[in-house]
Amino acid sequence: MERRAFLRRGWAALALPALWEGEDLFPFPFATPRQRRQQGGPLRLSSNENPLGIPPGAREAILEGLREANRYPGASRQALLEAVAGRHGVEPEAVVLGNGSTEILQMGVQMFMDAPLRLVVAHPTYEDVTRYAEPHPSIEVRPVPVKDDGSHDLEGMAKAAVGTRGRVLVYLCNPNNPTGSVNPVGEVEAWIRQASEAVHFLVDEAYFEFVRDPDHRSLERLAVALPNLVVARTFSKIYGMAGLRLGYALTHPDTARRLRALAARQNTNHLALQAGRAALADSRWVQESLAVNQRSREVTEAILRELDLEFFPSHTNFVMHRIRGPVEDFNRRMADAGILVGRPFPPFTDRCRVSLGLPEDMERYGETLRDFRKKGWV
Ligand SMILES: Cc1ncc(COP(=O)(O)O)c(C=O)c1O
Repeated sequence: MERRAFLRRGWAALALPALWEGEDLFPFPFATPRQRRQQGGPLRLSSNENPLGIPPGAREAILEGLREANRYPGASRQALLEAVAGRHGVEPEAVVLGNGSTEILQMGVQMFMDAPLRLVVAHPTYEDVTRYAEPHPSIEVRPVPVKDDGSHDLEGMAKAAVGTRGRVLVYLCNPNNPTGSVNPVGEVEAWIRQASEAVHFLVDEAYFEFVRDPDHRSLERLAVALPNLVVARTFSKIYGMAGLRLGYALTHPDTARRLRALAARQNTNHLALQAGRAALADSRWVQESLAVNQRSREVTEAILRELDLEFFPSHTNFVMHRIRGPVEDFNRRMADAGILVGRPFPPFTDRCRVSLGLPEDMERYGETLRDFRKKGWV
């Protein structure tokens, strides 16, 4: 086999089983995104990461933080808690740190292990919450299909939340992964405010910063006021720190105490905490990342329109679009072409979720799609 083709197939074999956010493998962990490309690795458009890397201030904070890496991170935890609380205008008691926001989702499910629970989720949505429910057969999962625009069917979900004597946990991923669609926050808030206390809400705002609707806002304040609402946020997306594992919950102090009791003590490490504080202070980085994301989305949408491939309007750093044939075949062919795209999201087996890289990455993705069109693959 030609060396290049072999390398590509090697990549495909290595990466295809691991296309879950946070689980894909990469052998050049210390390279910047551009260096990695020069080293000939695959183009990674699979895990909704920030293609710019981590903010420069966070990089410096990590290097500086190495001086104290022999110490337990109590002080840096407190400093980040205060910085996050200040950012959201809440008390530090209302903030719970997680080893990534996925740990917040895990705690959010485990909080209910002492009694029967119905878990209401959109279908498809980010899978971690149902994944954490899997070891607990007493949890009844009620998936509710998303609407035609890929957003949550709030009415359908509200219906699925009634008719049980046990408690209910509703997971709302807003904007939704994998569709990138957003639900108007006023509608979400109205449901939460009028729901009974037996209904708990876990609102995942992982992609909050990317939402293009100027009226969109976080449920941060409501979360702190209501014991039945947890909002999850992450440093993995806009702040480009997916590898550092840092997220947090905003919630009522009583609920915060219950969540914290489920976490490992000192669950976040000193370097991530230092980097997180520096990242929060770097509003320019956020603006730059959003500008690159917008440009990349425009490039991607133009290609999809050119090829007449329908897509959900995206309020995130990824786009879900139609393909021809099963997504497994499409993903394999993309991997053969040196591009990793998102894992399948049943029931949308004729769609691909592609993460937005740099504009030039999306040009390459577009070129590959054009080539696929010639071959009748899309
Ligand atoms: C909607 C959503 N929530 C949570 C996560 C987990 O992020 P973290 O890296 O903070 O654990 C992801 C990761 O892709 C996600 O898409």
